[in-house]
Amino acid sequence: MELKVVELFAGVGGFRVGLNQIKSFDENTGRAIESNEWEFVWANQWEPSTKAQPAFDCYVKRFGEKNSINIDINKIDKKSIPNHTLLVGGFPCQDYSVARTLSNELGIEGKKGVLWWDIVDTLYEKKPPFILLENVDRLLKSPAKQRGRDFAVILKTLDELGYIVQWRMINAGEYGMPQRRRRVFIFASLKSTKYAKKILKLKNWEKYLKKDGFFNEIFPIKLEECIVEEKSMEAFIDPVDVSENYCYGKFLTTGMFINGKIVNFDVKESFKGNQYTLRKIMNVARSYEISNLENYIITGESLEKWKYLKGAKRIPRIKPNGSEYFYSEGNMSFPEDLDLPSRTMLTSEGTVNRSSHVVYDESINKNRKITEIEAELLQMFPPNWTNTGMTSRQRYFMMGNALVTGIISSLENKLKNIILEE
Ligand SMILES: C[S@@+](CC[C@H](N)C(=O)[O-])C[C@H]1O[C@@H](n2cnc3c(N)ncnc32)[C@H](O)[C@@H]1O
Repeated sequence: MELKVVELFAGVGGFRVGLNQIKSFDENTGRAIESNEWEFVWANQWEPSTKAQPAFDCYVKRFGEKNSINIDINKIDKKSIPNHTLLVGGFPCQDYSVARTLSNELGIEGKKGVLWWDIVDTLYEKKPPFILLENVDRLLKSPAKQRGRDFAVILKTLDELGYIVQWRMINAGEYGMPQRRRRVFIFASLKSTKYAKKILKLKNWEKYLKKDGFFNEIFPIKLEECIVEEKSMEAFIDPVDVSENYCYGKFLTTGMFINGKIVNFDVKESFKGNQYTLRKIMNVARSYEISNLENYIITGESLEKWKYLKGAKRIPRIKPNGSEYFYSEGNMSFPEDLDLPSRTMLTSEGTVNRSSHVVYDESINKNRKITEIEAELLQMFPPNWTNTGMTSRQRYFMMGNALVTGIISSLENKLKNIILEE
């Protein structure tokens, strides 16, 4: 099999940066310097909330117009997507409940605008042998009123499409990467692949998952500390049945799903390398910063405002029924601890916001916001990756939306070997 990829919800290209081990781009053309081992045959990115498309513009600047599509994925005829061996994408955590269609008793209908169903339609039409997806960690336990239902619907749907599934919640900061960011990664393979057949034949999936599992081999765990849980979803007829009746609770942080059977456990990371720190990111960024840091410095009244936002507070509020309650929140680290990987970066990073990072910069003896380049380095993108004509606010937003690309580049070799062996 060839290394042909389709990137859905491509944003500014985090999966591609990771798979093609991109470290920089050509200063004159703006084009990424790629290993080109993985051929990206089709990439889709469309931002529904704005007319401007800065993420897509950035993608095109770095990778060119060929095969880059800026159309709502919902409007794409999935048959028109080229054949590929690997489908990748970071999709949002939405409501994955499904109902039967009124017109057709056998048809199923997810909520409108839920992007998971566009992934499903693509899989149905194109049957890529392998899939690698990313989502927020709460996917394993949402929604609050029916814990685990959404992920159970995803698993059951993939099962019906003929895939076996492995998943893992990975905190990049626990594996020598610069950001404490927990995300769930899902790797699925068609049952007809050699790779899946080998797993299907095994007698002991628990042993496989712990030692040779797709994720756990690359991101090692403390084997002696796993308490394995097994469950079966074989009794559920289809995704609608799962959506309506699933009641087994949340999924644990790593697991596999094969023919309706679940093996899963909570991982304890085991990493022997050095921790990457925010201080190190600031040092690396310094050599790239052309603008002076004046624009980022926080002093005087502004510093007081930040202190208030970051501090513990109890604020009286009124419920819709008129009764009073207290909204309370605790202290945030202020300024940030520079000897740790950063906290998770959100899309609001470029705004005055409790979750934005404020660092004490010893080179100027001042508190300041992190720079756009530091934000890029925290996600392991090349410096100035998003410096493609978008506003500063948008650059932070793109990084809040993206992923720690080092996770994908760490998995790349294993993924390549699996596909080339087919
Ligand atoms: C979580 S982000 C993924 C970011 C990406 N992994 C990266 O490295 O930048 C999801 C992306 O899906 C895009 N998106 C949202 N709705 C979409 C739609 N209907 N069709 C295509 N893309 C969409 C968003 O604009 C956003 O860039």
